[in-house]
Amino acid sequence: MASSLQDLTFHLVTFGCQMNKHDSERIAGMLEALGAVPVGSIEEADVVAFITCCVREAADTRLYGQVASLKSLPLRPGTPLAKRLVAVGGCIGQRDRERLCQELPHVDAVFGTHNLGSLPQLLARAIEQGKAQVEVLEASDSFPTELPSDRERAWAAWLPITIGCDNFCSYCIVPHVRGREKSRPLEDVVAEAQGYVDAGVREVTLLGQNVNSYGRDLYGEPRFAEVLDAVDATGVERLRFATSHPKDLTDGVIGRFGTLRSLMPALHLPVQSGSDRILAAMNRRYTAEHYLSLVGKLRAVRPDIALSTDVIVGFPGETEEDFLATYRLIEEVGYNQVFTFIYSRREGTPAAALDDPTPPEVIQERFDRLVDLVQRRSFELNQPYLGRTLPVLVEGASKRDGAVLAGKDPYGSTVHAPVPEGRTAEGLAGTVVDVAIDQARTWYLAGEVTALHG
Ligand code: SAH
Ligand code: SF4
Ligand code: F3S
Repeated sequence: MASSLQDLTFHLVTFGCQMNKHDSERIAGMLEALGAVPVGSIEEADVVAFITCCVREAADTRLYGQVASLKSLPLRPGTPLAKRLVAVGGCIGQRDRERLCQELPHVDAVFGTHNLGSLPQLLARAIEQGKAQVEVLEASDSFPTELPSDRERAWAAWLPITIGCDNFCSYCIVPHVRGREKSRPLEDVVAEAQGYVDAGVREVTLLGQNVNSYGRDLYGEPRFAEVLDAVDATGVERLRFATSHPKDLTDGVIGRFGTLRSLMPALHLPVQSGSDRILAAMNRRYTAEHYLSLVGKLRAVRPDIALSTDVIVGFPGETEEDFLATYRLIEEVGYNQVFTFIYSRREGTPAAALDDPTPPEVIQERFDRLVDLVQRRSFELNQPYLGRTLPVLVEGASKRDGAVLAGKDPYGSTVHAPVPEGRTAEGLAGTVVDVAIDQARTWYLAGEVTALHG
């Protein structure tokens, strides 16, 4: 029997982290399995679904604005519907529920982070009843990985090993919208990874808000190092993971960077601040000294490891001295990439109750100083790659120039190179090419292709 979504066109708009990107692939897979057809723009779509993020205020405001602007958008010619269906899911759906429909009356379906799989029924009911459907659950028993998936890139897969977060960093909304941490059984993780490898996937990225605590809820102890061993044993070519909480990064996991063939020499290890006073107020449960000791151990095991991090500037009560501690730590560690954020007050988190006497322009000035440092350090840290030949997993054409290919080296850096004669960037996507690096910029490396590996 044809589903009520049969032949409807749909478009997904995704914000936020990799977990949301992965959820979107599941939603696309599920809608396609029901006969709906993906299209490249909102204009062509009968159904538009927003997979949302509320980690900072800017993402929130943008979502409300973007959904509001859909109201006046003409229907696509030939649509069988009397109205374009608008669905809002993900973290804002989870948090705002009915409020979304009250503020945006043209929204037809709201779902949360625990029930991606309900979207088709919600849309079918919205068509049938002509009124908005809201369904948000407090927790879920299943992983979205039980849904089919339409992966954005055929050669790379995201594989969630945990969902939710138990850490309750005082500034962060994630535990409130993603629920408690839940690990997937190890055999399910391995079976999914093996399935990807057998299907020709070259790179697997294990996902979780804090992958290092994998297994604590399920087995009574963290077993992330075992996950790495088991996924490496599937024969995967490139293995990555995100995100790591410094308080739970064990010597066992650090050691794997020296021993596992597939584990790429790159680690995202969010530090958030270099001041112990602020780290304590953030409820991060480590000190700057502990963090630096982890960096030391990682470099002892794998001297060329590329580190990246997240930093929040302007946490309530941050002084110039606290900021300078962060500045010095960033300078000292030497990160290939730093994601810098200005603190954003999130209603419902403990930090939202803290007063902050610091004027916004002072916070902005600190932020600008940090961004300058990050740029200078990224540029400096890219220079040693000059003259090296790196295996690059091609992703496609660079954004600016179709004759230039873009991909990632083992360190996670973006590498550009002119497309070799007789080839296309699209044709090379998903293959590995060697690139001899002759340019090292702040945000990327570039060079000439010296070998194709298929
Ligand atoms: N679980 C991951 C990702 C969390 S969200 C982790 O712990 O690293 C990604 C980043 O957003 C965080 O690392 C933090 O730097 C930033 N962030 C989270 N809440 C924020 C807030 N209220 N204001 C500003 N930045 C925030
Ligand atoms: Fe948020 Fe902290 Fe959990 Fe990361 S570890 S998602 S920053 S509460
Ligand atoms: Fe945003 Fe939700 Fe991820 S709040 S960062 S999309 S878990």
